[in-house]
Amino acid sequence: MQKLTPPYGGDLPELINDAYRAEAIRAEARTWPSIDLDWRQLCELELLLTGALAPLTGYLSQADYERVLAEMSLANGVFWPQPIMLAIDAKQAETLQPGLSVALRDAEGFMPAILHVSEIWPADPEREEKLAETGWKVPFTSPGKAGQHYIAGRVEGISLPPRHDFLPLRLTPAEARAQFARRGWRRVVAAMPARPLHRMHVEFFQRAAQDQEANLFIHVAGGADPVHDATHFSHVRASLAVLPRFNAATTLMALSPLMDQAANVRAVLLRAIIARNFGCTHLIVGGEGAAGEGRERRGADLAHAQSRITAFARVRLGMELIPFPRLVYVEDRDEYLEESEAPEGSRIQRMSADEMAQRMMRGAKVPDWYAYPEVLAEMTRAYPSRQRQGFTVFFTGLSGAGKSTIARALTVKLMELGDRRVTLLDGDVVRKNLSSELGFSKAHRDINIRRIGYVASEITKHGGIAICAPIAPYRQTRRDVRTGIEQWGGFIEVFVSTDLQMCEKRDRKGLYAKARAGLIPEFTGVSDPYETPETPELNIDTAQYSVEEAVARIVLKLEREGYLR
Ligand code: ADX
Repeated sequence: MQKLTPPYGGDLPELINDAYRAEAIRAEARTWPSIDLDWRQLCELELLLTGALAPLTGYLSQADYERVLAEMSLANGVFWPQPIMLAIDAKQAETLQPGLSVALRDAEGFMPAILHVSEIWPADPEREEKLAETGWKVPFTSPGKAGQHYIAGRVEGISLPPRHDFLPLRLTPAEARAQFARRGWRRVVAAMPARPLHRMHVEFFQRAAQDQEANLFIHVAGGADPVHDATHFSHVRASLAVLPRFNAATTLMALSPLMDQAANVRAVLLRAIIARNFGCTHLIVGGEGAAGEGRERRGADLAHAQSRITAFARVRLGMELIPFPRLVYVEDRDEYLEESEAPEGSRIQRMSADEMAQRMMRGAKVPDWYAYPEVLAEMTRAYPSRQRQGFTVFFTGLSGAGKSTIARALTVKLMELGDRRVTLLDGDVVRKNLSSELGFSKAHRDINIRRIGYVASEITKHGGIAICAPIAPYRQTRRDVRTGIEQWGGFIEVFVSTDLQMCEKRDRKGLYAKARAGLIPEFTGVSDPYETPETPELNIDTAQYSVEEAVARIVLKLEREGYLR
């Protein structure tokens, strides 16, 4: 009897030990060195331990690695597109050597696995990128940074890295295979969406599975760190919300530990291996709308390499790839068709994922032909329109420039105007409450600003308004704070650009006089740097604007950006 497609390379490796051996390892490992894995590394370890990366049983050796770069093969000739590496810092590498076993731990000290070290060698990103170019001409980023070392070896699992979200949806390859077998599935089309599914995806997935007379496995990328990723829950909930639109008898949905969907040749082929290990025979590729820079370039690479990858996947992996075509919505037929199939003269519609995100941001309506209401409802919870989003107004400027005065006036104005809660994080107040132990060295100022940024990001995340008014003299630190906040809501940088001369003339607190007299060291503007903001949302010189005028300008800006009702 014909069965499910076997895993890539034969069997799923059994990497997780039984309870008895696990207990013995736990006891022994207490005195071993540990490597602390970050979230991405934990997701990769989960792939390894579950057998999703079969036949791999650990991190690649140097010989494997170099051959994968140059010709997408392991040292033994087995096709393998993407390096699976563990990179550690040089300092830690010095303390380890081949032959040792080390504990692999998560941030809380939990040990999902141990690694039997077989090799350690320094990363050389430049050389690796060159090596990768000799074979497949696709953009390649070395998994290790200069100064890091790779550590290779077999892993032995104790238990999977802990997860607490959507547990019933988290299937290992063996569990997925058991479910397929129970339902009598043999041909299975996998789709691995990393973004919410809209009408075009649903229609295409169903059509693709029907065309292949196959069942459908929707393997949603669900690896994101749920505590720190702003979109994880809405993404998974949106996927669950759309599930009833599929035929329950022929469709199964699960979450994978993948974090995102890089749209390059190596990543696509690796996903084909993962799909095969889960028991699938086909994989829908493209149409992911992978976020980030260079999307178009990588998309183009992919299109260019399409026929070559498809052939490779078929011959070397035994997987059929189904490219996601360019679809347009054909109005009179009320369905999605390939651009080339749309009847002459018919009215067609299309919208990019970015356009849709912008509409949601503005609170504009997203048309029914594009998205399902139940999916939109979930997405709106994660990306509320700006009127309902939190935001941070971040003042920066010299001491005495007028930041605190304007910040206080703005706080009062916003409290008077609206129904949202406002927190004022004034420089002096923060230094009293949050940062009382800190001085004014660069390191201490950075810690101070990062603390303010952290509190502001939490306030913004909860839909509140944070008004910050520190000097914040360093550009990079301000930039990092912006990045941290923008994933949750708005960030408006206001440069209070009152010049040094004016600040010194006013010298409200008498600090400039003291600084000039050498009584206060490292005083911003006098004996310490202030890096002027390059592209602040607003620039306000208090020599030219009164406090009321300054506040009015900020309120107008907030209104125009859509943050105020
Ligand atoms: S920041 O550099 O870390 O952003 P912050 O805004 O918290 O500074 O604190 C600045 C306030 O601390 C100034 O308004 C001033 O009252 C006081 N201060 C004391 N020493 C210094 C100093 N060396 N440089 C700047 N401000 C100082």
